[in-house]
Amino acid sequence: MTGGPRPGPVLAIVGATGAVGTVMREVISSRADIWGEIRLIASARSAGRMLPIRGEQVMVKELTADAFDGVDIAMFDVPDEVSQEWAPVAAARGVAVIDKSGAFRMEPDVPLVVPEVNPAQAFNRPRGIIAVPNCTTLSLIVVISVLHKAYRLREMFAASYQAASGAGQAGTDSLYDQLAAVAGDRTLGQQAGDVRAAAGDGGAFGAPLALNVIPWAGSLRSDGWSSEELKIRNETRKILGAPDLRISATCVRVPVVVGHSLALHVVFDTEVEADQARKMLSEAPGVLVVDRPESGEFPMPVDVAGTDPTVVGRIRQSMDDPHALDLFVCGDNLRKGAALNAAQIAELLIAHANWPLWQPREIRTTAPCGSAPASASTPRLNGSSSPVATRTATPFSELACVTASAAANAAAEA
Ligand SMILES: NC(=O)c1ccc[n+]([C@@H]2O[C@H](COP(=O)([O-])OP(=O)(O)OC[C@H]3O[C@@H](n4cnc5c(N)ncnc54)[C@H](OP(=O)(O)O)[C@@H]3O)[C@@H](O)[C@H]2O)c1
Repeated sequence: MTGGPRPGPVLAIVGATGAVGTVMREVISSRADIWGEIRLIASARSAGRMLPIRGEQVMVKELTADAFDGVDIAMFDVPDEVSQEWAPVAAARGVAVIDKSGAFRMEPDVPLVVPEVNPAQAFNRPRGIIAVPNCTTLSLIVVISVLHKAYRLREMFAASYQAASGAGQAGTDSLYDQLAAVAGDRTLGQQAGDVRAAAGDGGAFGAPLALNVIPWAGSLRSDGWSSEELKIRNETRKILGAPDLRISATCVRVPVVVGHSLALHVVFDTEVEADQARKMLSEAPGVLVVDRPESGEFPMPVDVAGTDPTVVGRIRQSMDDPHALDLFVCGDNLRKGAALNAAQIAELLIAHANWPLWQPREIRTTAPCGSAPASASTPRLNGSSSPVATRTATPFSELACVTASAAANAAAEA
């Protein structure tokens, strides 16, 4: 960096080397640049590495208490136990902590925030910590909250189709390794055991994910439920403020690199109408409706990876219940499912707080695909001025536009 310290709030990204931390750096680099210094933090293993953010190379620091000196906002993209120990250390130093781990999500005095759904909760943080929901919950919550507001949700049945990257960099690496091991052999997948023999022990998943699906994500909880299934239930209830909501989920890992999908059957207090629901969703911030089965256009990870919105389609009136809808949602588990949601929360905090270190200044913006630059004085609070949120009648070309801009960022990092 040249020309002395940048004015603006100081951001720390803890876990900057991991799967979420990497996307966090990309997201911060592609949104309005509202930050002064950005500090990259990881374990001692990574200290001294140079990583890109905002087009600059920044040296990774080791996670220590002193690393939070002068920091305004810290995003934690680290395993639960690391957040459990270090988030309170940062908060005790006056840092606003935005934690993406599962360490604090269900604590009653820690808000669980999705800016499109419950933004006010970001300002109710007695412990100085804001939790970001699990990536699977985040892949459905923006859509479900719109329907809940209109029709009052009574019950939800969910089946997830979760990407390998939901298990971190190790999950992505395992899937790519397995795909390489099975590639080219057209005999595989036709006999029990042949994929196991070719793909190895399953790496991060305990079973091969290539050429397979695994009806399991997370760790074992009581009565055979997985931790991931309980997160969908508990977190959805907390975010919607509906503690008695009936929710049942089955989580399945599929051989997709990025992009969690869910098939949902949702039952409401009032009668619902698919067209009306589709219209409401098409007007909701952070949601993109892609629902043209006649031309084979549905929400799919291959179109959604690297983009911001939660995409919803296959919206159908239940054939047996006028109070119920069936639908399919898909979102990037590393963007809205983690990094983007955290960036939105940070922008929300900055827009509504007097940061001692923050002086108003011109904000550098990116304006991909011909969109107008964002206002220099209005940080984006809920993604509504991000490229994808300016919806058009051609959502797929819009997604392609954002994918291109994300790819450009990724290429800049290579
Ligand atoms: N993957 C997803 O889809 C997703 C979505 C939402 C939330 N999350 C949550 O986000 C968090 C990070 O997940 P991830 O998928 O990015 O995991 P990951 O790829 O395994 O990255 C873990 C990060 O934590 C750092 N770290 C590990 N131990 C540390 C320690 N003792 N001190 C300091 N830094 C340490 C690592 O640094 P080194 O490189 O130095 O080891 C790395 O930067 C987890 O809590 C996860 O549950 C993940």
